[in-house]
Amino acid sequence: MTERIARHIPVLLNEAIDILEVKPGNVYADGTLGGGGFSEEILKRLCSGSGGFLIGIDKDPEAALNVQLKFELRFDRKKFKLFHSNFDKIDEIIKAEGFEGIDGVVLDLGISSIQLENNRGFGFNEEGAIDMRMDAGSESGLTAYDVINGYPEKMLADIIYEFGGERFSRKIARNMIKYREKKLIETPLELAGIIRAAVYKNYGKSKRFRIDPATKTFMALRIFVNKEYESLREFLEKLKYVLNKGGIAVIISFHSGEDRIVKNFIKNNPDFKAINKKPIVPKEDEIKLNPRSRSAKLRAFYYV
Ligand SMILES: C[S@@+](CC[C@H](N)C(=O)[O-])C[C@H]1O[C@@H](n2cnc3c(N)ncnc32)[C@H](O)[C@@H]1O
Repeated sequence: MTERIARHIPVLLNEAIDILEVKPGNVYADGTLGGGGFSEEILKRLCSGSGGFLIGIDKDPEAALNVQLKFELRFDRKKFKLFHSNFDKIDEIIKAEGFEGIDGVVLDLGISSIQLENNRGFGFNEEGAIDMRMDAGSESGLTAYDVINGYPEKMLADIIYEFGGERFSRKIARNMIKYREKKLIETPLELAGIIRAAVYKNYGKSKRFRIDPATKTFMALRIFVNKEYESLREFLEKLKYVLNKGGIAVIISFHSGEDRIVKNFIKNNPDFKAINKKPIVPKEDEIKLNPRSRSAKLRAFYYV
């Protein structure tokens, strides 16, 4: 039997690359390498001329390594350097590479389909550990297991509400505590069952859900464990030390909390000007082809 290899389909790729207006000779950064989809398009354009450089970053060491192996076979090694790091360290990375500033940067937030399918605790049907760290290889940091098995009820409810926008947050937290009284929550499959049971209690059996009732809670735990909002805020604050004048930032987010951070940053910072007034969203045919893209919002802006 052949093993299925997880692949990530980039979301809003053409739109992001068009806005970046990649020019050979310029310097760009991809803060969320993932499967390398965005970086690949940038590099293709850079390799058509002389000069130009791409800096790629991913917090997940596996992502950085896999893209490195792929790109070494395809592109001139003098044109790129990839890092296992947090994009909130972009200023340090750029300076250490000897650049004063860069001409464009892209962030495609969240997790990739590769991470979702690799038994890291992100998928509802997994029977492994509930980890959810993007840099699970390192020994650092809290796991989702620590949170759901150790935090008090109110804190759990607050996390699920704040980072997932889940209206049944209190009921879900209650169900987790009740379960914990008997045994610890060991697997994502168990966790998804606990969440679904809390949500189903409010509806008859007949209700059809547009998304799995466990989606928002899993997302909330992931955002909390990886400090995703903090990293995004820090990255945005550093942008004026990173972008050249006229340099472009493109940020794709997948839920309202993230999008709000980007939207308010552009609105409240006179140093930056929005390129698109309203966020760009995927067209019907992209959503059909890649349902994961349905909640994506792209905002782009430049350093004035
Ligand atoms: C949606 S995927 C990116 C997919 C990519 N654009 C592509 O086309 O294949 C998001 C990636 O960002 C990484 N990531 C998330 N937060 C990060 C952070 N704070 N710093 C660096 N990488 C991060 C994740 O590990 C994941 O690989």
